[in-house]
Amino acid sequence: MTDFIEGLPKAELHLHIEGTIEPETLFRLAARNAVDLRYDSVESLRAAYDFGNLQDFLDLYYQGMAVLQTEEDFYDVTWAYLEKAHAQNVLHAEIFFDPQGHTSRGVAFETAFEGVWRALEDGRERLGVSSRLIPCFLRDRDADEAKAALEQALHYRDRLIAVGLDSAERGNPPVKFKEVFDRARDAGLLTVAHAGEEGPADYVRQALDVLRVARVDHGNHAADDPALMERLARERVPLTMCPLSNLRLQVVADLRNHPLRRMLDNGLLVTVNSDDPAYFGGYINENYRAVQKALGLSNDELARIARNSFHAAFLPEEEKRALTRRVDEHQAHWVE
Ligand code: ADE
Ligand code: ZN
Repeated sequence: MTDFIEGLPKAELHLHIEGTIEPETLFRLAARNAVDLRYDSVESLRAAYDFGNLQDFLDLYYQGMAVLQTEEDFYDVTWAYLEKAHAQNVLHAEIFFDPQGHTSRGVAFETAFEGVWRALEDGRERLGVSSRLIPCFLRDRDADEAKAALEQALHYRDRLIAVGLDSAERGNPPVKFKEVFDRARDAGLLTVAHAGEEGPADYVRQALDVLRVARVDHGNHAADDPALMERLARERVPLTMCPLSNLRLQVVADLRNHPLRRMLDNGLLVTVNSDDPAYFGGYINENYRAVQKALGLSNDELARIARNSFHAAFLPEEEKRALTRRVDEHQAHWVE
């Protein structure tokens, strides 16, 4: 079963580049940039990755990204992720980054953007991994700050596919960002948003109705609302689920109760992704394996999830079809 997952062609659609800084890299970059860390060793940092909820994680995540100072730092972290993704048979990656997490501490938008972008270009050329870039607004900051971040992002309009919404969800409903998302769509960008991770099903509805998202990131709490479940299935709205993240942030107590099973059985377009792999104990294949084991997914179901990932990608239809065929071939040639 493990080998079926390893060779399975797949897309990663929910990955925060700042969540890929492994503790060893974090220490290396801190030394390179003379950044003071509050931890004295890789072990003590790793030991702190014991989260009671999303906010516990975010506190460390924002501290951790402070080691990213130069374009080279952003390049190195992105390149390391792409090599890992390539080794796990990720053929296409759509990558989030948090501009406000950088500009708020004096690192220019351009520094973050160009470093990540250059690595993505090299990833396309040298690894054959296609990619897209999605800046996210921090929902626990005010909407005016998001507007300013969007204006900066629009200087790079041609190299962006969508905007997203992340950070602390509770008390920060999608509707708070209606205007900034309207403006992003007017500029021709697609939209996505984290919704229903810790927040209620109603936040998923708002993401659809107010922010007009093309995909929902996480979406777990949609499972609390049967009418919403039906709608998501009927409208074929993709959900980018992140099982190990949900486990580590106590969004689910046990993966055996993860809503992905019910969603898959009800015809929702679910995908499996890694969110912040350096913090949650695994990249995309570890996420596929964890849900396979907990939910007893068959090879057919795993292949369906991989097909969903290409279907949900922001790629031209023709490319989606070609990538989906690679899943069909993997399945057809697989021998136990
Ligand atoms: N930023 C990085 N990872 C996140 C997550 N899982 N939820 C909200 N914001 C995030
Ligand atoms: Zn996320």
